[in-house]
Amino acid sequence: MKFFVDTAEVSDILELDKLGLVDGVTTNPSLVKKSGRDFIEVIREICEAVAGPVSAETVALDYEGMLAEGRKLGQLASNIAIKVPLTWDGLKACRTLTEEGRMVNVTLCFSANQALLAAKAGATFISPFVGRLDDINLDGMELIRDIRTIYDNYGFETEILAASIRGANHVSEAALAGADVATCPPAVLKTLASHPLTDKGLAAFLKDWEATGQKIV
Ligand code: E4P
Repeated sequence: MKFFVDTAEVSDILELDKLGLVDGVTTNPSLVKKSGRDFIEVIREICEAVAGPVSAETVALDYEGMLAEGRKLGQLASNIAIKVPLTWDGLKACRTLTEEGRMVNVTLCFSANQALLAAKAGATFISPFVGRLDDINLDGMELIRDIRTIYDNYGFETEILAASIRGANHVSEAALAGADVATCPPAVLKTLASHPLTDKGLAAFLKDWEATGQKIV
């Protein structure tokens, strides 16, 4: 499974990239607002920092507007994935931008039928929002499983990018459900290493080691 980092904070991306954890980056308008950075400037910087796909989201609602924004974003770097919303115009823009040879991430997916349409429109990535479905008492992970089944049934190559990941359980469940990518906030990626039994075991080993009076170096 690939890990994308869901942030526009360059320092977080660089820190995780040093560990080899960053296969790509996703951003959205809310994350850009949170960073306080200029959109174009921060996207350029992220694209230089990582080799994998960097999703940058269009904000126009109509096909022509999405194309104009998508083409501008696509010129920033070769690793840009243009993010368009899962609307009728978004699907049309996805088809055109894909035919122009660009990576497209279709975002705000909340149903299997939407994911089917995105794959038929040639999307590179489909972003089902797991956490936001859970928020309204639906099963976000069931959507990942359904999309996996449908894509496998018909051999669609669109990658399933599990988005709106809220915690460690979402990551392992998305991996078990066959998502190709999980895009995680930096804090979630960091929690993946934590386990109380690891901490407890380490404390016991160190106590016993101290009692031996030995040193390794
Ligand atoms: C990423 O592509 C999505 O925009 C992001 O994961 C949404 O996460 P949220 O639902 O926590 O805002």
